[in-house]
Amino acid sequence: MKIVVGITGASGAPYAKRLLSVLAERRRVDPALELGLCLSPTAPEVWALECGGDLRQQLREQMGDIPLWGQRDYRAPFASGSAGWDAMVIVPCSMGTAARIAHGISDSLLTRAADVMLKERRKLVLVPRETPLSVIHLENLTTLARAGATILPAMPSFYSNPRSMDDVVDSVVSRILDHVGIGNDLMRRWGTT
Ligand SMILES: Cc1cc2nc3c(=O)[nH]c(=O)nc-3n(C[C@H](O)[C@H](O)[C@H](O)COP(=O)(O)O)c2cc1C
Repeated sequence: MKIVVGITGASGAPYAKRLLSVLAERRRVDPALELGLCLSPTAPEVWALECGGDLRQQLREQMGDIPLWGQRDYRAPFASGSAGWDAMVIVPCSMGTAARIAHGISDSLLTRAADVMLKERRKLVLVPRETPLSVIHLENLTTLARAGATILPAMPSFYSNPRSMDDVVDSVVSRILDHVGIGNDLMRRWGTT
């Protein structure tokens, strides 16, 4: 399976950090899992505020083998449908990025990769974060859902009785993994003890 992760400048960098570390861990035991990463220009700034520290350095030191592609590096394999990547997750997804993808504005590697996923009818999971949502936001998200994207808002659940911030983050990351077909037990499932 080949999965690309995009990170934008919405609040919610801890979701991205946790998703990347779970995927990097999974890749160590499953070399068939191929990963790629791309960033929006604002992503490192929000990461520094919310995760503390430098995104690129943490990627290198904690998630060593996930290739990070340049913001306009269209040589990345997932910039083309012919490379056959299976899924993309954009987490967190800003309203600006959602708007660009909804309107086909492929002006960066990240938005181009999302455009490719939609046109190829592959899995595109968007984890939007904003509150409250304007009609413009809602219409863009509806357009994306109609085009085939999965809208998986950064809305933690509390029925699993999270005990820590990590548990709260995992309640979202677990659902992201479910939707790209990666089995996980990050959260206690409804109906289990
Ligand atoms: C600390 C911080 C938090 C932000 N949180 C959000 C957010 O939750 N949702 C959002 O749509 N934009 C948020 N923004 C604004 C975006 O970063 C800004 O609109 C940016 O242009 C988005 O660009 P991008 O989509 O290329 O990352 C935030 C900005 C900062 C600095």
